Amino acid sequence: MSDAILRLRDAAFQYDGAEDRAVDGVSLDVAPGEFLAILGRNGSGKSTLARMLNALLIPTSGAVEVGGIAVSEENAYAVREICGMVFQNPDNQIVATVVEEDCAFGLENRGVPPEEIRRRVDEALTEVGMRERALASPSMLSGGQKQRIAIAGVLAMRPKVIAFDESTAMLDPVGRRDVFELARRINREEGVTVVWITHFMEEAVRADRVIVMDRGRIELEGTPREVFSNVQEVLALGLDVPEMMKLARDLRAAGLDVPMDTLTVEEMAEELCKCGA
Ligand SMILES: Nc1ncnc2c1ncn2[C@@H]1O[C@H](COP(=O)(O)OP(=O)(O)OP(=O)(O)O)[C@@H](O)[C@H]1O
Ligand SMILES: [Mg+2]
Repeated sequence: MSDAILRLRDAAFQYDGAEDRAVDGVSLDVAPGEFLAILGRNGSGKSTLARMLNALLIPTSGAVEVGGIAVSEENAYAVREICGMVFQNPDNQIVATVVEEDCAFGLENRGVPPEEIRRRVDEALTEVGMRERALASPSMLSGGQKQRIAIAGVLAMRPKVIAFDESTAMLDPVGRRDVFELARRINREEGVTVVWITHFMEEAVRADRVIVMDRGRIELEGTPREVFSNVQEVLALGLDVPEMMKLARDLRAAGLDVPMDTLTVEEMAEELCKCGA
């Protein structure tokens, strides 16, 4: 028995009327507290996979377990208690005209007592740095702020896992960084397991582990360093290599002894100091 919080065994999903399976036999264990990034070109099955974690889709074959509960129609409610989801477009996730009411929505639906709702909403808005905007109208907020409100709504439900499906894709660089750092903090400080779907390599390099999907299957899996050191495969799977790896290549061409697999800005700064640059 593994103590994985997410456990997929040959999990597959085929949309009605589709010829191919959108997720085609994925086996994967995610440990509690892990930050897992999922990469892959458009249509590779990332969103379909994420939607099974939240029981929005039920696997058509194989098994998906979330916190030990099998994803099925009957268990959908219990699965959603464990795994919350944040989507790409913050406008589609906000349902109320006042920030704190939006944040309380899920709890109200579950019949949580009002004083408990008050406490959890205050806590969640504080966590995402939006407590002082509790009475604002979401329509007055930036994309990044709206996304933080959507995250607060999920946090208020106290899930063990949050799946983010390209939650930074529509944001400007500041909003993108804020939301990514927030997800990292929730992961590191609250121990929430994070599944982070992204097209940004700079985000993926900061995950504990990366999987790359293609045609519904996992094609590459490992630490960011392991995955991105397969440069040719990464490119063939329709991805880019992280900016710092490109810079490392240019610097090496210019005669500086920077390792090829320098992934993050911090690592690059360290390497350049070693070079005396
Ligand atoms: N509602 C649907 N009905 C039928 N086919 C679908 C549906 N949603 C997705 N698909 C198909 O399933 C496959 C996987 O799609 P999915 O949305 O999971 O990919 P993705 O990796 O999230 O792509 P993107 O990077 O564009 O978000 C694609 O071939 C897609 O066309
Ligand atoms: Mg998608």
